[in-house]
Order: sequence, then structure tokens, then C-alpha cells
Amino acid sequence: MTTIDGLDLVSPERYAEQGYPHEQWAALRQSSPITWFEPEGYQGFWAITRHADIVEISRKPDLFWNGPRLNIQTLERDVRNAQGPPLRTIVNMDPPDHVVYRRIANQWFTPRNVRLLEDRMVESAQEIVDRLFERDPSEPFDFVTEVATPHPLRLIAKLFGVDKEDEPTVLKITNEVFGGTDPEFARDGDTGSTAASMEDAMAFFGRIMEDRLRDPREDLATVIATATVRGEPIQAVEVLSYYFVLLTAGHDTTRNAIAGGLLALMENPAELERLKKDISLCEKAADEIVRWTTPVNQFARTAQQDYELRGKTIKKGESVALFYASANRDEEIFEDPFAFRVDRDPNPHLGFGIGAHFCLGASLARMEIRVLLEELIPRLVSVEHAGTVERMVSSFVGGVKHLPVRMKVAPSGR
Ligand code: HEM
Repeated sequence: MTTIDGLDLVSPERYAEQGYPHEQWAALRQSSPITWFEPEGYQGFWAITRHADIVEISRKPDLFWNGPRLNIQTLERDVRNAQGPPLRTIVNMDPPDHVVYRRIANQWFTPRNVRLLEDRMVESAQEIVDRLFERDPSEPFDFVTEVATPHPLRLIAKLFGVDKEDEPTVLKITNEVFGGTDPEFARDGDTGSTAASMEDAMAFFGRIMEDRLRDPREDLATVIATATVRGEPIQAVEVLSYYFVLLTAGHDTTRNAIAGGLLALMENPAELERLKKDISLCEKAADEIVRWTTPVNQFARTAQQDYELRGKTIKKGESVALFYASANRDEEIFEDPFAFRVDRDPNPHLGFGIGAHFCLGASLARMEIRVLLEELIPRLVSVEHAGTVERMVSSFVGGVKHLPVRMKVAPSGR
């Protein structure tokens, strides 16, 4: 019997050292899919590990709220981050506001609208793969910084309306805030709070907002800055929070999926060969990569009234941690869940969440991953490890932060 220590499920350091705790989740799914943990330094939470239970909870946004506690982090971070700038993002909102505010940006992310970006996506992927071709194939490089980071970053920047010279600022904000539990990224190595980084982020977004109010453009930044809710202009804090969530969530996660996706293909060479032989599988492969890597590991909900689930009572005010990465290996849902299969179909994974807060950028992310694979895989002659794979020190957005490789890429057939 596997002994399960709550820290295995939430300690950022353990995620960096051991990767996702799949062994512990598998044991919990079998013996106790809903378990209360109260690890030292954390407020207690129910660990929800089965796919069906995450779906049930996520489909009850009136009963299970995002606002009070968005994810499971240390008590120190709970307290210190609350002292930072106020945030009112759609991820933190609950009924009745959530739907109303989500509508502001919704149509920019519909599959139809995202398809209009395909040419730009192909251009970005070609440019990145061409650069790989120009490199000396014997020289190692970090796939995360050279490939997985710039592709989604420039696409969300383009859609949003961030100027090219400001892309490094967006990257710095994302690394400091999303990677805030990782000493490599945290501001001044302070992994206990992201308040200082958030202050700077809000000042940067404030300048974009002022600019768009003065000089509107055809971009998402303008749509949000000039939006109205129930007949009134939305408040500045809501504009800045919207900017924050779109610009950070809009590329960090996709970067982790792309990097983890290449790693999965390297570890499963037969799957890489299948993809090379049949490039039309890239669409399914993109979803399998999101299932396999599950870059967003957990979000939390807080019960608004007592709720019975599998014979356990979740009391009003208690938090549930939705471990999407566990749901994505659930034996009740997926055939052979620990196998990475580029043609997995059906693939009802919860990598993008489900229900009211289902990922706004899911179509964008899927297409970014697919297009990059379509450009890279046919030209990929060889790839091998050239150093240690390093994982994020985070139990919230997990993944590969450095992936040193040597890669040989064929010239473009264009
Ligand atoms: C592979 C890449 C991605 C993954 C794995 C991912 C994952 C997720 C997950 C799990 C949620 C659910 C949050 C919850 O349940 O409370 C979410 C929400 C969200 N995602 Fe993504 N995401 C990705 C890419 C993107 C992109 C490209 C954008 C672009 C803007 C984006 C924007 C958002 C937003 C705004 C929300 C909040 C939606 C709401 O609360 O209504 N994400 N994402």
C-alpha cells in the first residue's frame, strides 16, 4: 500500500524533484478518491482524484466557487499574496458575474475566430523551425526557450495587441507570477509571495489600458478597456485583471504542453514515427499531449453548502482540490491511461477543465500545438537529450522548464 503524505500532492519542491505524483493519485483513485489532507503549512483540502467527481463539482458553479481560494498553495502565500494588488479576473469570479464578464472576450476565442489566426500561426512555426535548421545540429539548445516559449507568446501577444518589443516584459511577468514558487523565476528568489511582481505587472497593463482608451485599435486590449457591463464601463481593476489572466494563461500553459509534448515523443519513439508517417494525426496528438502533460495540475473550489459525494460530506466553507492530472489517468475513463498514444480517440481529458470555467483559450492552444507539430515533425531528422530535464518548482502549473536537446532538422520543402 502506498503511503500518501498530503505534501506529495501539493509541495512545489516535490513536483520538481519527483514529477507529478501519479503513483499516489492511482492509489487514491482506487482506495479513497476523495480524501481530506491537512499538510503542514497548508490549509486543509479534499483531494478529488477521479474524473467523474471533478466533472460533477465543476458543473455546479453555484455550489462550488472559485473566488474564495483559487488553488492550493502554502498558507504563507495565501496570506502574503492577498496583500498584493486586488484581482478580479474571470477565473476568480462566480455567478452571477462570471458569465457576464467572460462574454467580453469570449468571441475572440471561438474556434471560428481562432482559425483566422492560422496563417500567422503557420508563419510563426515555420520561422521557428527554420531557425532550428540554421543551427549547428551538434550544438545543444534548450527546447523550452527556443521553441516552446516564443510560439504561443507571440500569438497571444498578436491577438491581444502587445507590441513586439513588449513581449519580453510579458514573459517576465508570467515567469515571475506563474513560476512564483520556483526560485529560478521568483522575484529576488522570494517564493513566498508574488505581490511585488503583481504591482509591476499592473503598472505595465495600466499603460496599455490608458493607451487604448486614448487611441483605440482593432485588438483585444481595446475591446476589454472599452467594455461595458450592465450598461456601465468596467472598472480599471477588472480591465487590468483581464489583461493579466489572458496574457499569462495565454502562453505559459501552452509552452509547458509543447515542451512536455516533445519529451513524450522522445520517450515514445514509436509514437513519433507514427506521427511522421501520418501527419494528419497532429490534431489528435495535440489533445493527447494536453492529457499527458496536464500543464494546469490543480484548481480549487470552495463549497457554499454541505455536499455529499461518494459517502463523504464536504462541509460548507471547505475546499476541494481538483487534480486534473489525476483525472487524466483515470482507469475508469481512459483505456490504458499510462500509454501515450498520438491517435487516442475518444479523449475526454480534463486538461482544459470543464464546466463554466472551461479554458477560454482551448481552441487557440490546441491549434498552436497542432500547427507547431505539423511544421516540426516532417522536418525532424533526429532529436536526443543533451542534458538534464528540469521541472518547474510548482504544484499549480507543472511541467518541463528546461529541456536541453540536440536536434537535426531538414531544410524546408517550401
Ligand atoms: C495547453 C494550454 C492550456 C491549458 C492546459 C489550460 C488549462 C486551463 C484550465 C484547466 C482552466 C480551468 C480553470 C478552472 O477550472 O477554474 C483554464 C481556464 C482559462 N484559460 Fe486556459 N489553458 C491553456 C491555454 C490557454 C490559452 C492559450 C489561453 C488564452 C487566453 C487561456 C486562457 C484561459 C482563461 C481566460 C481561463 C479562465 C476561464 C474562466 O474562468 O471562465 N488558456 N485553462
